[in-house]
This record gives sequence, C-alpha cells and structure tokens, in this order.
Amino acid sequence: MGNPTPPLMSSPSHLEHRRLLLKFMLGSPLLGLTFCTTPAEKKELTEKIFDGITDPSQALDVFDFEKVAQSKLPPAHWGYLATGVNDDITIQANRDAIANVKLKMRRLIDPTQVDMSTTLFGKTWPTPIVLSPVSSHRAFHPEGELATARAAKSKNHLQILSTVTTTSVEDVTAERGAPVWYQLYALNDWDATKDMIQRAEAVGTEVMVFTVDLAAGSNRITLERMKRLDTRQCNNCHSSNRFEHKPMVSNAEGIEFEEKLTWDYVDKLKATTKMKLVVKGIETAEDAALCLKHGVDGIVVSNHGGRASETGRGTLDCLPEMVDVIQGKIPVLIDGGFRRGTDIFKALAIGANAVCVGRPYIWGLASFGQQGVEGVLQILRDELEMVMGQAGTKTVAEINRSFLA
Ligand SMILES: Cc1cc2nc3c(=O)[nH]c(=O)nc-3n(C[C@H](O)[C@H](O)[C@H](O)COP(=O)(O)O)c2cc1C
Repeated sequence: MGNPTPPLMSSPSHLEHRRLLLKFMLGSPLLGLTFCTTPAEKKELTEKIFDGITDPSQALDVFDFEKVAQSKLPPAHWGYLATGVNDDITIQANRDAIANVKLKMRRLIDPTQVDMSTTLFGKTWPTPIVLSPVSSHRAFHPEGELATARAAKSKNHLQILSTVTTTSVEDVTAERGAPVWYQLYALNDWDATKDMIQRAEAVGTEVMVFTVDLAAGSNRITLERMKRLDTRQCNNCHSSNRFEHKPMVSNAEGIEFEEKLTWDYVDKLKATTKMKLVVKGIETAEDAALCLKHGVDGIVVSNHGGRASETGRGTLDCLPEMVDVIQGKIPVLIDGGFRRGTDIFKALAIGANAVCVGRPYIWGLASFGQQGVEGVLQILRDELEMVMGQAGTKTVAEINRSFLA
C-alpha cells in the first residue's frame, strides 16, 4: 500500500495561506502591490519596489536617497548623521509638528505661473530652500563640501558652510563661484575664533551664522551605539586631535568649543565683524526678543535637527511665537525635519522667510555626490512649486496663515 493521503488538518491554515501569498508577493513586488490589503503590507512592498535606486532621477522623494545613503555609509558615519539626543524624541517631534499642521487649498487660480524667488539681505534666490550647515561632508562622500558647492552652484541655492567643514571656506567659495554664508562655532580661544571670522570676510562672505545650541553639550546615544557596530579601525582616519581634518579650526593644543557662551558674546561678534550676524538655534519667543535687543540681523529657528537638547518640541511648533515677536523686523529662517515641499510651504505660511534642510542633502551627497545633492534639491523645488500651484499662491509673499486649517 502507498502512503495515505495526508489528512486535511495538515494543510496550511488561513493565516499560513496569507503568509505564503505575502511571501510570493514579496518575490514579485509589482504584481503583489495589487493584492495588498493593509497599509503595512503596502508600505513593505512599496519600499521593496523603490529600494536601492541607482540614479538620482529614479527617486520619488528625498527619502529614497536616505536608503541609499544608509547602505553606502559605514555604521559610525551613518550614526553620526542619523543621531538625535537621548531617545531621539525631538527628531520625531520635528516631523510630527509639521504633520500636525493642515493646509487649505484654493482652486481655479492659474497654477502655471509660480514664482518661488526669495530675497534675504538684499540678495534674491530662485527658491527659499537653503542648505543648512552640516559638518564634515567628506565623512559622507570623498568630494565632500566641494560636491555640495557644485550642486548649490548649478541650482543656485544658498549654502551655509560649517565651522567644522572638511574643506576650507576659501576652496568652497571658489568652487561655489559666489560667497556662501559661514557658520561659526565659538572656540575657547578668541584669536582662533577671530581668525575664522577674518578668513570668511576675506573671501567676501556677507553673512555669519552663529550657532548657540550646543554650548551645554549633547547626549548622542544613537551615535555611540552605532559606533559599536563599526568594526573598522577609526583611528586610521581620526587622530586624537579632533580638529586635524578641519581646515578652519586651529590645530593648537587645548583648542575646544567655547562653553561659556552668553549674550555678551553676541555683542562682541557684532563689534568684531561687518558681516550680518544670524543666530542659529533659537527656539523661544523670549530669546527671539533678546536677539532683537542685541541687534542680531536674523535668526534660524532650530534645534540642530533634534541633536542638541531633547525638548520634545518641533521647530514648527516654536515658529509662531517667534514670528509674532520678530514682526518682520529681521529674517526668520527655520530648519528641523523639512522633507517635502508641503513642509516648506507650512513654515512659509506661518511666517518663515526661508527653510533650511540638513540631512536630506547629505543623503543625496552620500548616495551620488553632486548629482545626489542636486536630485534632492530638485525634488524639494518641484514639490514646493506644486503645492504653491495647488494653493493658488503665485509668489512666496502670498503664502500666509490663511492657508493653514
Ligand atoms: C551630521 C550633522 C552635522 C551637523 N553639523 C552642524 C554644524 O556643524 N553646525 C551647525 O550649526 N549645525 C549643524 N547641524 C545641524 C544642521 O545645521 C540643521 O540644524 C539640522 O540638520 C536640520 O535638521 P534636519 O537634518 O532634520 O533637516 C548638523 C546636523 C547634522 C545632521
């Protein structure tokens, strides 16, 4: 006698059928997408289909660059880019604050004539989208800040160069073919700090962005955990002198960032330089008022992309009270979690003059160098242009709080 037919009970259960179907669908994603029923299944499949773009033109949004960047970067460098502080709650708060703002669209206004141009300190840019200062671009791509400068040049975006850049302000300005804004971290040595200011001035820099949100330190746990996953010998590149590959910062022994920062320092900077002084890292109405009192020329509403203090407060949540204090007297820029044209539109509607992005353009840089940065900027521009058309706003000046629900 042959083997008996297996009893019906041993056939796959309903759930097992579903698991097998999903497995099959994951093997043939385009077909599978049609059969997905839950949002989670759809997300899983969608990610599989669009994962691993091989050219910037394939990206549908800036997050497509994030996946490529993560796959290309060593864990410690990815950790440096991705980290927040403590539980990374403020990173998420930046995104949540933006998502919680709802938009009202207007209809039957010719959407084909959108002008995104934006003027800051007398200079007009094609869009209000700005590159935030991010340190050490060569940790993300061998061409580092030069690749970013070429992208900023080809798309004509304002680039803010970090104090801890891996390429000097002289070389970046030459590659950009125009002045950038220079971001300043105060050093514990005034002469070394003044040297950076003078070098920026000497190449025609007109605006200095003074970052004030890290003086008390920051507890970057995600970075420390990711470092432990990195099996490479970090001291092949990083020496005990943390500023060795940072051409703007003095290599002298004992040089550190200044911890004892107070408003007096703002006065000192104002008295030292002819450059416009923009203070970055302001989050409250009280400090916005103090900026006005101390003659600051502009502010960046910023929590350092959730990597300074764990406030749990998104920058977009902070923006209204600050715009209300500033009352248009000086430009208000903002950053933290801006990933889409609609995000940028919301900040402009509340009253920001320009919106800076940090991690997204670094995802582009790490993925495809200059072309990656250009790809990210193009997506953000296209998306902003689209939402402006949908809202019937022909210029940035027309975007106001009436478009917020
Ligand atoms: C890897 C990394 C390095 C950064 N380095 C600097 C810096 O050198 N100076 C500075 O003022 N801000 C620095 N920032 C903060 C950014 O300028 C900006 O505030 C933040 O990235 C905006 O948030 P987003 O990344 O969510 O767009 C850095 C941010 C990241 C992610």
